[in-house]
Amino acid sequence: MTIKRVGILGAGKVGIVLAGLALNAGYEVRISGSGSVKKIDLTIKTLVPGAIAAENNEVVANSDIVILAIPLSRYKNIDAALLKNKLVIDAMNYWWETDGIREEVLSPDATSSEQVQAYFKDSTIVKTFNHMGYHTLQEGTRPQGDAKRKALFVTGDDHEAVDKVARFVDTMGFDQVIHYNIKDGIMTEPGSPLFGASLRYNDLKHVIDHFDENEFGKRIAASK
Ligand SMILES: NC(=O)c1ccc[n+]([C@@H]2O[C@H](COP(=O)([O-])OP(=O)(O)OC[C@H]3O[C@@H](n4cnc5c(N)ncnc54)[C@H](OP(=O)(O)O)[C@@H]3O)[C@@H](O)[C@H]2O)c1
Repeated sequence: MTIKRVGILGAGKVGIVLAGLALNAGYEVRISGSGSVKKIDLTIKTLVPGAIAAENNEVVANSDIVILAIPLSRYKNIDAALLKNKLVIDAMNYWWETDGIREEVLSPDATSSEQVQAYFKDSTIVKTFNHMGYHTLQEGTRPQGDAKRKALFVTGDDHEAVDKVARFVDTMGFDQVIHYNIKDGIMTEPGSPLFGASLRYNDLKHVIDHFDENEFGKRIAASK
């Protein structure tokens, strides 16, 4: 199915920036927060006029792709059945200031996107948009072929879904470094060299190709 309608769960910093990029790219955009439409309506009308403020159910029902742009500690507040059979982008990271104690949010033996995929077991999860700060996402978008175009890491287990999301990322104004393994999402999470990175394709690929999982694992352990 061609992507025409983009649904964004989370009307915060990243959700609103992605809504703006999706509108500029010509998509129909719906966006929700955790509560009623009334809570976000004015913000959406002001910051991203043209996007439709709605509640989660309506956003999901009317979207060809759904972006999770909520705090990681809150994904289980969304009923997994709501996203059944949906292509879902996981733009979330564990962030201690927002999410609290890591062990209370994530089990230590799997990466965050693996856990998100396991929870939304009937959805197809692809991780991207998570490693770039929202300001950079907003300002970094460029047309294909522009020498200053930045790249995003895109990864997931389902090849077809990853390729589809990569094409979507392209339309949003970024090159893509693609992997077909959801576990590799760890390469872009807080504490990794790529978290916060805003790099062009070759530079992003270089860091990804030289990623030292053991070294990163040690750093994560040391930061606990
Ligand atoms: N900030 C960045 O630069 C950045 C960059 C890349 C990725 N990320 C990741 O993106 C996610 C969002 O970050 P943010 O900075 O945008 O956070 P934020 O500004 O705090 O916004 C979070 C939004 O999620 C909404 N929300 C919470 N639970 C929800 C639910 N069950 N259903 C629908 N909406 C819900 C919140 O609504 P209420 O206000 O009603 O609770 C709020 O609108 C995080 O996982 C973060 O790690 C952040």
